[in-house]
Amino acid sequence: MKVLSLIGTRPQYIKEAILNQEFKNKGINEILVDSGQHYDSNMSGIFLSSLNINKPDYNLNIGSGTHAEATAGIMIKFEKVIEKVKPDLILVYGDTNTTLAGAIVAAKLKIKLAHIEAGMRSLPKNSPEEINRVLTDRISDLLFCPSKSAVKNLKLENIRNNVYYVGDVMYDLYSILKNKISGNILKKLNLFENEYIVVTLHRDFNVDNKEKLKTILNELKKINKEIKIVFTVHPRTKQRIKDFNLEKLLKGFIILEPLDYLNLSGLVKYSKLVITDSGGLQKEAYFAGKRAIVVMPDTAWIELIINKLNILSDEYNIYNTFLKNSKYNYVPNIYGDGKSGEKIVDYIVKLIK
Ligand code: UD1
Repeated sequence: MKVLSLIGTRPQYIKEAILNQEFKNKGINEILVDSGQHYDSNMSGIFLSSLNINKPDYNLNIGSGTHAEATAGIMIKFEKVIEKVKPDLILVYGDTNTTLAGAIVAAKLKIKLAHIEAGMRSLPKNSPEEINRVLTDRISDLLFCPSKSAVKNLKLENIRNNVYYVGDVMYDLYSILKNKISGNILKKLNLFENEYIVVTLHRDFNVDNKEKLKTILNELKKINKEIKIVFTVHPRTKQRIKDFNLEKLLKGFIILEPLDYLNLSGLVKYSKLVITDSGGLQKEAYFAGKRAIVVMPDTAWIELIINKLNILSDEYNIYNTFLKNSKYNYVPNIYGDGKSGEKIVDYIVKLIK
């Protein structure tokens, strides 16, 4: 049996870490293809090495570009790899341009396609991630859902066959690495437990519009007067801040490059709160028992909002939401039992045996 995983962005390296290990445990040959969508080492290589993932067998080196350039570029190169490797099944992860490109190529070549993190839906409908999710689910043969609401979402779209609730592979990873998450980074940054807030931002609808980005940074500035803002800046956001001439609004924040998994988890673990628009980080905050203010109109990780763990905020109300920050009552095991990877590999083995 030969399975092929297509990864290429920061969140995909994190998800792949679990599957990579499970395939190794079961003696299954996994070919790894990196699209190269993320190419800065702190967005890619550092995850492969720090999470013990095998070096990719192929790198498509696609780099930056428009959505069409990235998606089509990956498709053209990926098709050639598939023709050479001839896998029995292709796995795609999450909701990026890499996910959609891989899914279309697999489906057209009539190779079984598995989608990890299927059924997630959130507004706005025209965000690149939402388009990628909806289209990928439509053509997948095996749909692995991290939450029960994801299964429901698929039912509403009449996708019912081979849909499995398995839990979240990111929770598997957190459970495995939990004991290795330390506060070493706090010492380096001269920070103290509960005395800072971790911020990340990268969604197109937040950072590509000057007025919106300016409003968000001004809200953070108000918070920074009361508690330190530690902002790890995604390359896209860094570029926009420069393009829009907003660097002065960062004055007084601790500004960091994107961090590897363990360092970011360490920072979150000892923080007061997280402010983010990242799908991954809003959950990692929950895994660590911290609240996230989610700067989005909606989120696919809706259970965290319903259970009053995380709070959605628009760009104007981040400071107010911070002030109102109510009591946090932890609810365990929302995203499974930490054995999602094992379940996924078992279903795959059943399908292609
Ligand atoms: C992508 C995913 C998003 C995911 C995020 C995690 C899509 C449509 N979006 O968003 O779902 O949550 O990754 O980080 O696939 N850049 C660099 N170096 C890098 C990577 C990006 O400089 O290593 C810059 C480039 O200017 C690039 C821009 O960031 O044009 C955007 O990168 P891209 O991969 O298109 O989207 P992300 O914003 O990273």
